[in-house]
Amino acid sequence: MDRIVKEKLPRHIAIIMDGNGRWAKKHMLKRVMGHERGADAVRMTVRTCRELGIRYLTLYAFSVENWQRPKNEVQALMSLLETYLKTELREMKETGIQLTVIGEIDEFPESVRDLLVSAIEETSENREMVLTLALGYGGRDEIVHAVRNIVRDSRSADVDPESITREFFSQRLYTAGMPDPDLLIRTSGENRLSNFLLWQMAYTELYFTDVLWPDFSKDDLIEAIVDYQARERRFGLTSEQ
Ligand code: FPP
Repeated sequence: MDRIVKEKLPRHIAIIMDGNGRWAKKHMLKRVMGHERGADAVRMTVRTCRELGIRYLTLYAFSVENWQRPKNEVQALMSLLETYLKTELREMKETGIQLTVIGEIDEFPESVRDLLVSAIEETSENREMVLTLALGYGGRDEIVHAVRNIVRDSRSADVDPESITREFFSQRLYTAGMPDPDLLIRTSGENRLSNFLLWQMAYTELYFTDVLWPDFSKDDLIEAIVDYQARERRFGLTSEQ
């Protein structure tokens, strides 16, 4: 932890937690076991980010494309999420973590939706860290959803096209009110965005590691932050500016 410069912490870390299936295969276990171990890595990551003072952590827990997986795997992911919410709510409350969700959860089992709604409500006053779970999330769907809402609103009021600025549009996304991610971490050696936070990651620093998500440790997280801190973020300007 002492390798991290407190003054240069990323404000917002987003993570694509990939490689649960390959981890299971490597250990000759069922895929579901990989997800179970993945949930343990989620617990460690949330705790460590909270301890470090990261203000926003966003985890890609279930993409809109994940609905296409075998039914038993989808069910296992839902039940893991249910367990996670039941077991972690107390710690979230004690440590000041606010839970939020981005994505479409209408198709999620009622038991999971109920737990999500009450956890969001019960942690809404917490201010230490915002933990956002991307569930039923797709970056393109999010953009389409925002455009639809803007068009819908424009039917009842005259909208000046010039009033639709980048800032205005950002506030119509699921992530309204949140800063864009400073650092994206993706595990398991895949170098893609996979439809995650497409608008929000225009200037995000990307960090890819070969570590499979269930093996992702506190040291790996620290390594990613140290790597981020060594980078120069120019946002399209020159070094001298
Ligand atoms: C990718 O691994 C991971 C997912 C599809 C889901 C992420 C879920 C978890 C980490 C566990 C539960 C989450 C919470 C919040 C409790 P993969 O199956 O695509 O791996 P593979 O590419 O090796 O097959």
